[in-house]
Amino acid sequence: MSMEPIALAVIGGTGLYRLAGLQDPEEHQPVTRYGALSGPVRIGRIAGRRVAFLARHGEGHSVPPHLVNYRANLSALHALGASRVLALNTVGGITQAYGPRVLACPDQLIDYTWGRISTFCEEPGTEVLHVDMGDPYTPSLRRDVLAAAATAGVALVDGGCYGATQGPRLETRAEIARMRRDGCDLVGMTGMPEAGLARELGLDYACLAIVANWAAGAGPQVDEVITLDEVLANVAAATSGLPAVVEALLAG
Ligand code: HPA
Repeated sequence: MSMEPIALAVIGGTGLYRLAGLQDPEEHQPVTRYGALSGPVRIGRIAGRRVAFLARHGEGHSVPPHLVNYRANLSALHALGASRVLALNTVGGITQAYGPRVLACPDQLIDYTWGRISTFCEEPGTEVLHVDMGDPYTPSLRRDVLAAAATAGVALVDGGCYGATQGPRLETRAEIARMRRDGCDLVGMTGMPEAGLARELGLDYACLAIVANWAAGAGPQVDEVITLDEVLANVAAATSGLPAVVEALLAG
């Protein structure tokens, strides 16, 4: 394996099973003490630098959000030499600036998930870490992502609060109304424990959220039903600028 460090690891969400522009990817199937990853890690090059890509739900979307082995995924990327992780998360929009097809780089997070293994500090003898999570996303990486989007000419909303729900079902209108009162702008099912585990490993971690739909009751048509077709069509449309952002991030 090349000893050249991995300049960036990208974790793809719903609708994002390959990273466009990843040249000559090699497939790695790391084994971790936490079990199996969602799928292979593909390591290739973008802008001449080594980039790793992992599809969070598996390449055929076979792993639901609550069953993703977040610890295996992140510890494998870490062991492969990644120090920066860009998480792509498909989300619903709650507040006005976060409508379908918007790309956003949130700066806050509320965790509503339950029953997920959410720490590496579990095994007897492991050091107990109380990692600082005041800024759940690494500020320097967020700045780099925002600058890269500006360079690439891709609109990216700066900031916002990501509410992580358990899924796999979507939320009720009352749940979304409560999340709005809590201060959430976006809702997704995979933001946690990923961000917390990344912090425990000392990885730089930022989220690029792709708004696929209005969350329940949040859009202009209150009783609108959310369909997977709508979600996937919006993700495809909203991510057309993504390769340029990733390239600018690596060139910067
Ligand atoms: N809620 C939760 N997760 C999501 C949504 C949503 O409306 N859309 C895409 N991921």
